[in-house]
Amino acid sequence: MKQDCREGMNNLIKQGYSKYFDFIELDPPYNIGKDKWDKFKSHEEYLEFIKEVMELSNQLLSNNGTLFLWHNDINIIFDFMNVCKNTNDLKLVQMITWNKHFKYNVNGELNKQYEFLNGYIQVSQNRSYMLMCEYIMYFIKEENKKNPFSTIIKQKMKELHLKQKDVANLQLSKNGNCTGWVSNKIKGEQLPTPRQWMLMCNLFNIPNEYDKLRYTYNSNKNTDRHSVWQYPMSKETKHKTEKPLQLYYDMFEVHTKKDSKCLFPFVGSGNNIISLLELNKYDDGERKYIGYETDDKWFDLINKRIEDSI
Ligand SMILES: C[S@@+](CC[C@H](N)C(=O)[O-])C[C@H]1O[C@@H](n2cnc3c(N)ncnc32)[C@H](O)[C@@H]1O
Repeated sequence: MKQDCREGMNNLIKQGYSKYFDFIELDPPYNIGKDKWDKFKSHEEYLEFIKEVMELSNQLLSNNGTLFLWHNDINIIFDFMNVCKNTNDLKLVQMITWNKHFKYNVNGELNKQYEFLNGYIQVSQNRSYMLMCEYIMYFIKEENKKNPFSTIIKQKMKELHLKQKDVANLQLSKNGNCTGWVSNKIKGEQLPTPRQWMLMCNLFNIPNEYDKLRYTYNSNKNTDRHSVWQYPMSKETKHKTEKPLQLYYDMFEVHTKKDSKCLFPFVGSGNNIISLLELNKYDDGERKYIGYETDDKWFDLINKRIEDSI
């Protein structure tokens, strides 16, 4: 929608959509003068803006929902984390670093700027190293603390008089001994992978509803993933702050379900929406989204890209 996201989000709340969204991605202006939309009158005004957006997001995010918030300036991040403290029930899980592979341009050639700056300390920016990354604050809502998998396991073990060893027998070590893999799942400290859950469903003779139970996090997609994300900078459009399509695709694959409702208050180039639609095509998903963008040029381009993608 072509609208200030704060107005749009307030309308959603008025229309009864509180706690409706499973996934929110906030890539707001950073107030570092990147473009005409990236300037605020003062630092305080900017912090108030972020605070307002975070509060609205908090109201719209479902229990167990996931929220990602982007920024690239660590001092500004500390300031707005401080301002937002105690105003919402979002829990910061991790700060993820996106390594932008800034050394080379998209054609694989050494970036001129890199050549020039390499080895220099930027005195004007507090003697900092050259910034090669952006940060993504990963938040979850944690109102429902009970792990649904462990609740089912505990109940079934009781009903069927099974011991931990019986369940652990499902996945023996190479030499045929129990591995103890199950104890953290029973305690609820870990989510089982889809394969482990399938074994349990067979043992307990229950339907496999992995996708329904798994919050928004998919542990099966966790192989080889860690808190430094490696994606070259993206140039799908001429948007100055666009994020890579593949980054979005992987983010949605791990953190959304096939029927997730997603909110993108700052759509920008539309790479987020395009990746979501691609993932829907790939896994027959029905993920839905609402997005906001105030700039005419980007709004028109997003609509065109969506039309082309369908
Ligand atoms: C940091 S960029 C988002 C870039 C996006 N993640 C991408 O990959 O292209 C922020 C975008 O939000 C838009 N914007 C700024 N203030 C807004 C507001 N209050 N409501 C909605 N959109 C806004 C800007 O026009 C800009 O395109």
